[in-house]
Amino acid sequence: EKGGYDYFMLKEIAEQPKAVADTLLGRIDASGALTLDEVRIPQSVLREADKVVIVACGTAFHAGLIAKYAIEHWTRIPCEVELASEFRYRDPILDQQTLVIAISQSGETMDTLMALRHAREQGAKVLAICNTNGSTIPRESDAVLYTHAGPEVAVASTKAFLTQLVACYLLALYLGQVRGTKWADEIRAVVRDLAQISGQVDRVLETMGPVRELARSLADKNTVLFLGRHVGYPVALEGALKLKELAYMHAEGFAAGELKHGPIALIEEDLPVVVVVPSPRGRSVLHDKIVSNIQEIRARGARTIVIAEEGDEAVVPYADHLVRIPATPVLLQPMVATVPLQVFACELATARGNEVDQPRNLAKSVTVE
Ligand code: M6R
Repeated sequence: EKGGYDYFMLKEIAEQPKAVADTLLGRIDASGALTLDEVRIPQSVLREADKVVIVACGTAFHAGLIAKYAIEHWTRIPCEVELASEFRYRDPILDQQTLVIAISQSGETMDTLMALRHAREQGAKVLAICNTNGSTIPRESDAVLYTHAGPEVAVASTKAFLTQLVACYLLALYLGQVRGTKWADEIRAVVRDLAQISGQVDRVLETMGPVRELARSLADKNTVLFLGRHVGYPVALEGALKLKELAYMHAEGFAAGELKHGPIALIEEDLPVVVVVPSPRGRSVLHDKIVSNIQEIRARGARTIVIAEEGDEAVVPYADHLVRIPATPVLLQPMVATVPLQVFACELATARGNEVDQPRNLAKSVTVE
């Protein structure tokens, strides 16, 4: 049932292009408009929402962090993202105009379930993004947008994450469409780009040989740091989480802009630092700032592992290892940038002799608070 792969995780990484395509299927019509009537949430609720709050745990939380950039940019509705386990304990401000989005692969995560119950008690509308038909979280929500990743067996979430991102983009674009934001042209263009993304994920998967080799060469390291900015910051957090849970290594993700506020003190000779570089197109200021971050850490001895768009030549002189990803619109970059980090963690775990599909101390769904 592993379909010829050594681990479910490898199979699930490979299934990502299909999972992404399946999650888009039937949700964009021939004219390029989004058709999400299936969520069965009245358009008036979506039009009147004055705040979006996303609650989730672990990898799903990282999808939520990325969704915030998309929702605020395309809809101009303020969006908060909170760890589900923190949410209800701080008496959050919620009312009928708040749209709460609960993201969960399993649909059974107790922290997320308790957060959504709390939100509904306060009168908020809850929309679940979930991969498991008929599970508790969608059953207890007002509406649901299913991801179509198929069953995810490995404890480490991979294809579910990419499809959660797709669902978040769809939802953000749909909110923009329903509310008629001034970004209408951009929204139409992104919908077109989204349709290409599955093929781009496939291209990334075809080029993972050097990433695996690099991972094996780092098997005896104790620490790996991850840096990113804008939507690359949650990608860095996700890369670090994958490495912790699979390779049992100390791994931390930082916002690259925070480097000089503390983390740069950690840089020492030969420390591997993975840097997710924003596109030089679009918000090029961020690109240039991150290139100087790479220079700074390399000057202090870091071994730089740079994930950068094809054609980005500015990073070449400072990259000890360069991983190329296809050019995408700025907000969609996590779809391709995350994939090498999944492969990296999986290969490091294997090289360290760890159980890839069932890491120690972890369960696939966490049904206790
Ligand atoms: O089923 P959920 O999406 O609600 O699960 C949330 C987290 O427990 C999950 O993403 C966890 O962090 C994964 N093991 C990460 O790979």
